[in-house]
Amino acid sequence: MDIRQVTVFGGTGFIGRYVVRALAARGMRIRVAVRRPELADFTRIAGDVGQVMAVQANLRFPASVAAAVAGSDAVVNAVGIPYERGRQRYKAVHADGARHIAEASAKAGAQRLIHISGIGAQQPRTGNAFVESKAQAEHEMNRAFPGVTILRPSVVFGPEDRFFNRLASAAQMAPFMPVFGDGLAKFQPVFVGDVADAVAHAVVDRTTAFGAYELGGPRVYTYRELVELTLRITQRQRRLISLPVWPAKIGAFFAEFLPVPPITRDQIDLMIRDNVTTPGRPGLSELGITPHSAEAILPMYLDRYRVSGRYDLTAPV
Ligand SMILES: NC(=O)c1ccc[n+]([C@@H]2O[C@H](COP(=O)([O-])OP(=O)(O)OC[C@H]3O[C@@H](n4cnc5c(N)ncnc54)[C@H](OP(=O)(O)O)[C@@H]3O)[C@@H](O)[C@H]2O)c1
Repeated sequence: MDIRQVTVFGGTGFIGRYVVRALAARGMRIRVAVRRPELADFTRIAGDVGQVMAVQANLRFPASVAAAVAGSDAVVNAVGIPYERGRQRYKAVHADGARHIAEASAKAGAQRLIHISGIGAQQPRTGNAFVESKAQAEHEMNRAFPGVTILRPSVVFGPEDRFFNRLASAAQMAPFMPVFGDGLAKFQPVFVGDVADAVAHAVVDRTTAFGAYELGGPRVYTYRELVELTLRITQRQRRLISLPVWPAKIGAFFAEFLPVPPITRDQIDLMIRDNVTTPGRPGLSELGITPHSAEAILPMYLDRYRVSGRYDLTAPV
């Protein structure tokens, strides 16, 4: 399939920037559609001169979305918000934003639309406002752009991730590591480079249209095991303390009033539910990708949290 021009919404985000790189490496021209293009300069080095350019778009404003997709052969939605602030509400950004992208892409005649969602997002009634807005987003995408490809990653890891960096940074400061509930919820961390390759594959492979792919890494871990892995890599010894969920949620309720909440009630919810791929559902292998393991990648960027420092060449990796 001849895909030359791709618009990537959220191209400055953690996952979006790797998507931009993966598409640029395949020779496509990329429009990085972001709210503040002046902060997107760093994405230009993903390609040759002029191959990657930033344009202004805000998913809450349909006209800006339409302008950003005009003339594009493919469109990628890598937008998301981890908590609500001001006019950045889950419904406005996730659900209505997805609708604006899908409608604009269909109207502009785009051949391909790829939407990054999350495992579990297909369940419309979970009692979790974040997840429900992601479910609504998938619904809007399917309705307005039949043939959309939906990618649902488990927790994503990579140098700029919020998951392992937060655990490692907490271990630097805290005398113990909190674990919500029993800490036995299961996760299947997937490398951000593999997610980006999955997007790039889906952009050019029309057989992925109408498909929903669950993206997970090679191994399933409990939340406790992920905390222990982080502690091992950063050479720290901390006791794991179980925090009962309801008191933790009361704390999170107050934390949600902070300008940047360290944790929200929805995020606690996500940490106590299994977040793994469903056996039999298509995933990375159907996209021709062999996933990287957390053990292979994490030491490359968590080394900055190590007790013996980043430059200790004798440290086990
Ligand atoms: N990270 C994970 O572990 C993970 C796991 C599963 C699924 N996902 C999903 O993957 C997607 C991307 O996640 P991420 O971790 O890369 O998020 P991220 O780092 O927070 O990036 C989000 C991007 O969305 C943009 N954005 C926010 N509000 C916008 C708006 N109103 N209009 C246009 N752009 C807007 C942000 O740009 P600004 O600078 O303008 O804010 C940023 O570029 C999300 O849907 C997320 O739910 C992530």
